[in-house]
Amino acid sequence: MQKSKFLNLILATAVLVMAIMLATKNNGSNKPSPAPIHALQDTALIASPSTSAPFTKKSLGVKAELYPQPAVVIGSYDKEGKPNMMTAAWVGICNSNPLSIAVSMRPATYSYGNVTDSKSFTVNIPSAELVKYVRYVGRFSGKDVDKFKETGLTPIKAEFVNAPYVKEFPIVIECELTEFHDLGSHRQFIGKIIDVKADEAILNAKGNVDVNLLNPLIYAGGNYYETGRMIDKLGEVTDGIDGKPFIPNYSQRYENETLGVIHNRKSVRHFTNQPVSKEQIETLLRAGMAAPTAVNRQPWVFYVVTQRDVLDTLSQQLPYAKMLTQAQAAIVVCGDMEKAGNLKDKGYWVQDCCAATENILLAAESIGLGAVWTASYPYDDRTEVVIKALNLPANHVPLNVIPIGYPTGEDVPKNKWKPENIIWQ
Ligand SMILES: Cc1cc2nc3c(=O)[nH]c(=O)nc-3n(C[C@H](O)[C@H](O)[C@H](O)COP(=O)(O)O)c2cc1C
Repeated sequence: MQKSKFLNLILATAVLVMAIMLATKNNGSNKPSPAPIHALQDTALIASPSTSAPFTKKSLGVKAELYPQPAVVIGSYDKEGKPNMMTAAWVGICNSNPLSIAVSMRPATYSYGNVTDSKSFTVNIPSAELVKYVRYVGRFSGKDVDKFKETGLTPIKAEFVNAPYVKEFPIVIECELTEFHDLGSHRQFIGKIIDVKADEAILNAKGNVDVNLLNPLIYAGGNYYETGRMIDKLGEVTDGIDGKPFIPNYSQRYENETLGVIHNRKSVRHFTNQPVSKEQIETLLRAGMAAPTAVNRQPWVFYVVTQRDVLDTLSQQLPYAKMLTQAQAAIVVCGDMEKAGNLKDKGYWVQDCCAATENILLAAESIGLGAVWTASYPYDDRTEVVIKALNLPANHVPLNVIPIGYPTGEDVPKNKWKPENIIWQ
């Protein structure tokens, strides 16, 4: 062995020995360090802390980092007319006229041959609860298994094209192959949309797909996600465009949607004049009535106020409810003394109605509405105002008035996290 090679070997061995010694010292033992207790819970409880400054970009090389991607199921028939389905994420609307969808498939898939031969396919849009099927259908090939039989899903012959759709999927798009492009690893099939069918259960009153009811599935970074709440409308293009520099706030992102809603809830005191629908108010009331209640008494009654004159009267006569003049509606949460019982625990109505109120506030945040808790009980003067304005019977005690509307964006959440308020025992 040459002298220089020998020296290099000695050097490498010394570095390795030092590294092992250091690792041992840091651990305090030879055992691998145990995973921190409650590590998962901890990350879920706090907003993900960002250690890097924004805009410090790192090259990731050539990767399919397009976010978000759909995860859909493509339906096709083979030469014998056997229905098959495969999961595809490399899919998207690619033309408006004729309205078309592009789907890329590897030649190794069974569906590739099926679509090439039958010149038809369906795109089946899953709701998030169908994720197990999307996973399965994307793992096994129709060459080896009958995926409809194995999953129990039902193939239905499409109305206008020579392909099956999946009955249990809430939206199905029938496509006729117009062209394809061999791109390298994948063949991109372009399908003209011939018809779209959607389950009535996911349509809103106008007959359009309600994205919240659909709850579509997102595929991103090798994982499946649900979509979140609506955050903006297509039409409002200039809102928030002010020429000022944009600084992202990565510290305000949460591990899951529920925590995001809890931490993003704020008292909204400034509303736009956009109307709030009866369905939206009902969503809030359903959330309110889902609150915990002592011995399930449900000692509450909810008044929904939408008349302008009543909202204005309450605004003028309640000391901290001026925002009612801008609000589109208000929910008045009342304790119902007839339901509250007569025993020592009668006072639980306050706690129960408070829990219902918080649920209403969180539900409002979750559907893009703003709301604020304005107290009535235990102030006699304020309860009297509400009782008189709403003509309440004697057994209905108003706990609060919750003005509701679309937020202007002026109100922001407060950071109330104070470790000194916790006593760990
Ligand atoms: C989330 C997900 C997305 C996928 N996207 C594609 C895709 O866009 N194109 C493709 O060729 N295969 C894709 N696959 C893989 C196919 O679904 C898989 O190879 C399947 O077994 C093919 O079925 P088949 O042989 O019955 O046609 C995806 C799989 C998963 C799980």
